[in-house]
Order: sequence, then structure tokens, then C-alpha cells
Amino acid sequence: MKRIAVFTSGGDAPGMNACIRAVVRGAVYHGLEVFGIRRGYSGMINGDIFQMSSHSVSNIVQRGGTILKSARSKEFMTPEGRAKAYDQLQKFGIEGLVAIGGNGTFTGATLFYDEYGIPTVGAPGTIDNDLYGTDYTIGFDTAVNTALEAIDKIRDTADSHDRIFFIEVMGRDSGYIAIQSGIAGGAELVMVPEVLTPISEVVETLKSGWSRQKASSIIVVAEGEEEGNATEISEKIRQQVESDIDMRVTTLGHIQRGGIPTAYDRILASRLGLGALEGLMSGEKNVMAGIVNNELVYTPFKDTIRLPKPINEDLLRMVKILSV
Ligand code: F6P
Repeated sequence: MKRIAVFTSGGDAPGMNACIRAVVRGAVYHGLEVFGIRRGYSGMINGDIFQMSSHSVSNIVQRGGTILKSARSKEFMTPEGRAKAYDQLQKFGIEGLVAIGGNGTFTGATLFYDEYGIPTVGAPGTIDNDLYGTDYTIGFDTAVNTALEAIDKIRDTADSHDRIFFIEVMGRDSGYIAIQSGIAGGAELVMVPEVLTPISEVVETLKSGWSRQKASSIIVVAEGEEEGNATEISEKIRQQVESDIDMRVTTLGHIQRGGIPTAYDRILASRLGLGALEGLMSGEKNVMAGIVNNELVYTPFKDTIRLPKPINEDLLRMVKILSV
């Protein structure tokens, strides 16, 4: 293999730049020609492809977002879109790909390999930490710390006004951001999609707090929570408690996707970027590089896509105990 390309796809995540840097510098080190593709599969289809050098990735290890930009391409999910993408890769003589993204990205790469035989190795880039085959994904640690900073600030005002705050965090169908930021932020309760938390249990938790003179409470809600979003949950609660109870809702939203990556994310991204590149060079294909128990492992895309990544339910039990 002489020429490879790297791209970022799906939702951006802090640390993606450190990962791009590792792929590019690793390729230069190993004597490969390396290309960047802008805007993920959309750029592949449109031929938005350019040669990169060691210098192209100078001064980016500390930057949030992705210098290659990102997109979710509907066109690549069609056979016609993939045909156009293949033509562009042929034009540039690209023989292998490193894809930094999540499940949607890896689904596209699998279809592409089946049709055109272009091998891809993935690096898990998503704040959601929802990928089987790695303990942590690139961007998760930064997102948790961003959510935590917000929770700490909200706690100050919640305490001053004796209020209950419902704080909604991202994660799509995963409760990882909620559980980690909730524990670190001393939340009274964390609601995640993986485990049903009936409204009656939320009411119980609040009432038990009031009986112990607890005047303010923080409830962290994962966006995929079954009982609804944070606003809907707060409305359901209001119907079951005294009407003058002072409640507020904060949805943290996309601030969790941006910002300077933590040291943990930069190191993880560097290991995964180099691991993905070296895997590709040694003949791996349709696999994602991951770190499990501090070891680099390659997991087939079909497993990262299909297999669930369960949360540790004991952590939820701990939240309850520690909020007594
Ligand atoms: O996958 C990352 C993520 O931020 C999810 O947590 C969230 O559900 C989704 O992307 C939001 O996507 P968009 O930026 O397209 O609104």
C-alpha cells in the first residue's frame, strides 16, 4: 500500500484533530503518501481530496472540531453515491482509508468494501462512547468534562435558590455521558436510556431529599431517556408534586461537542490514529481500532455496529447511595 486517505465523518468530537495528526504523521514516518478528504463521504463523492504532509497537521493537537470538517452523507448510502466516491479514489490512486467516526461511518465503509474492495480501518470518534470494541471513544472525556463544568455552575445557582434542576446531556441512545458527568457532579439521580427510571422513582428521590432538608437537587437526564426529554420529565414531575415547587431545565446541547480536548482525549486519539494506520498497513480491513484494558485491539465493524455497549449499572446504584 502506497497511498492512503483519512477523513472524519458523523458528529465531530474533540480529539479528532489529534487523531488526524497521528494518522498523517504515522503515514509520513512509514513512507506512505497521505491524503485528506474534506467533509467525510460527501467530500469523497465530490473529490474534495488533497495531499497532506507533516506540516498540514502542525499546531492542531490542541484544537477542538476537525480540520477536515465533517458531514453525515445521505448520498453515500446509495449505490450511485458510492460509485462516484470510488471513481474519485481511483483518480487519486488511494488504496486504503482511515475513517474517524462512529457507527454510521463504519456502516458506510463496510458497504464500500463489499462493493469495491477498498479497505478501511476505523478510529472511534464520537462523544457518545457508544461503540463496542473500545473502552472509550475519542471526545467522550472532553464532553464529560464540559458537562461537568456546566453541572458545577448550575449547582451554585440551584443551591442559592433552593431549586431542582433537570440537566439534559447528549449521548443519542447511550447514557455514558449522563452517568459519568452525573457521578462527578454529585447528581441526586441520573436517568439513562439503558435502565428504566419510572417517574415515581424520581418523585420518591425528591421527596426523600426534602424529608432530609435537602433544598436543591440536580437530576441529569440523558437525551435518549425513555420517559422523554428533560422538559417533558419535569412536566410529569410537576403533576405529581406540589405546584409551587421551583424547577428549571437546562439542555446542554452542542457545547458538549466543542472545546479543547482533554489530555486523555489527545492521548487516546493519538494511540487510535496510529493504531488504525498501522492496522491498515498490516492488512487489517473492516475493523475499528480500540483500546480495551489499555491494549490496542481491532474489532470487526459488524460487531461495533451490532453489539451493544452496556453501561455499568452498579454506577447507577452508587449514585443513589451517594446522594443520601
Ligand atoms: O453522536 C454525537 C451527537 O452529538 C449525539 O450525542 C447527538 O444525539 C447527535 O450527535 C446530534 O447530532 P447533530 O449534531 O446532527 O444534531
